[in-house]
Amino acid sequence: MTSPRRVLTALLTSTAVVGALAACGDSEASDAPTLTVYSAQHESLVRTMLEGFTDETGIELEFRDANDSELANQIVQEGEASPADVFLTENSPSIDVVDKAGLLAPLDEATLEQVGEQYRPSSGNWVGFAARSTALIYNPDEIAEGDLPASMLDLADPAWEGKVAIAAGGADFQAIVSAVLAIEGEEATRAWLEGLERNAEIYASNTAIMKAVDEGEVPVGITYHYYWFRDQAQDGLIGDDARLHYFGNQDPGAFLSVSGAGVLASSDQPEEAQRLVEYLTARAAQERLADSSALEYAVGNGVASAEALPPLDGLDAPVVDPGSLDAARVTELMQDVGLL
Ligand SMILES: [Fe+2]
Repeated sequence: MTSPRRVLTALLTSTAVVGALAACGDSEASDAPTLTVYSAQHESLVRTMLEGFTDETGIELEFRDANDSELANQIVQEGEASPADVFLTENSPSIDVVDKAGLLAPLDEATLEQVGEQYRPSSGNWVGFAARSTALIYNPDEIAEGDLPASMLDLADPAWEGKVAIAAGGADFQAIVSAVLAIEGEEATRAWLEGLERNAEIYASNTAIMKAVDEGEVPVGITYHYYWFRDQAQDGLIGDDARLHYFGNQDPGAFLSVSGAGVLASSDQPEEAQRLVEYLTARAAQERLADSSALEYAVGNGVASAEALPPLDGLDAPVVDPGSLDAARVTELMQDVGLL
């Protein structure tokens, strides 16, 4: 027979257990590891690639989405106090700004080795997780393919005055300029930019360039490949009259821009942050990129990109250490010649 005293004890105990469970539930919610990810890549691409990460690891993700230079500048300003654990960029010059400021931790060797050497910097402090090819978008009703320039650098010639569209203010175009700077040196780059300052029509985005070329407003534009491919996949509503020309031949106009991922040295969850970058560059995430509507290139070892795209190894891109691209110098040069 149970004495009243034992019943009371049991009640107290179960109340205590319930209380403890509730407290435990509460503290689990606030203690669940959550990574703060500063992300400048296209939101849908990043979310697609990271699908399943939280289910698989129990690590929650909180995103701050903005553009490359905004987030890089924010991290540099925040310094050691930055809430960011992981930084994902659309183009690599911005993640390299953070690397050069000493704010990135070395990545795990196994993560680096998931991606070809040409898609990561020699520092080993960040890694490429997607790639985009420079291309010349043109309107065949306005200019025959045979009349296109042999090199992107030729677009600075006076013959091209008023005929070239660029998105001078965007991180994409500025990454292309950083490749010209790395390959051709400062004087040649300045001369090219001076020519473009005279020749170019300035647009706000790659999509605006595609529309202007499609409508015959301007015959050619400097862009990345995937804007046109994405548009084609969505019925070609903006760019159906435009075509892409690849310079190849290791021309600066064949530059392959890499999207970068890195772990902040100041992260208080370095293991979880390393795990995210590992996940992003592993085969499964790279295959999700290849199968997605993003139409950017996968860079994971042995992962084929979307079938609609010309194969990456046939593009004959120039060899550039992505850790040698100088975003700050590009901004200065573009300001000097009046493009910014
Ligand atoms: Fe983009």
